[in-house]
Amino acid sequence: MNKRRSFLKRMAAASTLAVVAPDISIWAQNATPAFSLPVLPYPTDALEPFIDKMTMEIHYGKHHKAYVDNLNKAIVDNDKAKDRNLDFLISIAGQLPPAVRNNAGGHYNHSLFWTLLAPAKGQQPGSKFMEMVNASFGSLDKFKEEFAKAGMQRFGSGWVWAIIKNNKLLISSTPNQDNPLMDVAESKGYPILALDVWEHAYYLKYQNLRADYIKAFWNVVNWNEVEKRIISSQGK
Ligand SMILES: [Fe+2]
Repeated sequence: MNKRRSFLKRMAAASTLAVVAPDISIWAQNATPAFSLPVLPYPTDALEPFIDKMTMEIHYGKHHKAYVDNLNKAIVDNDKAKDRNLDFLISIAGQLPPAVRNNAGGHYNHSLFWTLLAPAKGQQPGSKFMEMVNASFGSLDKFKEEFAKAGMQRFGSGWVWAIIKNNKLLISSTPNQDNPLMDVAESKGYPILALDVWEHAYYLKYQNLRADYIKAFWNVVNWNEVEKRIISSQGK
């Protein structure tokens, strides 16, 4: 639109509500998209040397941002997804088109994942987690072994989870950006710990050595958050 036409349009808009209204609507839609990238709870270099700065910058700033942007685009023309919150979209993921399901899952999973990581300061699992681990797996080492096995056996891209189901701790994994809260999940439950095993989560530092990435992960788990999630799981 040239400057003169733009000027005439603004003049017309100022004189009639009918012309002004669509402009405001478009501005509001662009200014406040339905979903937005959450603030990372620590600097991108805070998880060094276990998860490197460049991986975090790309993982959070490019990959997670793309899930958010693509989710906002995908819900525009979908009556089931429009104006719904993320929890709802996850709960009916199987009824949604792949673009909504995958990007809603991507946004949900990464938002959760960032909160489950923390700078390495020698943190150890809390008492609630240890009680559940000992009841279900016998020891922390056995739990870590089973968790790593689930991560290694996940073919292609996906996630490994520690979930609570009927007050019992279980390990599961999901493909792509699915998660255990989705209606389509093979093993449903409330996630208290998550690990992204997509190559984009580790390839820059660990190349194809997913096992080394999984081993390093234990140094940067936010066990305080895991304890909080165990409390949140009660009654769910
Ligand atoms: Fe990821």
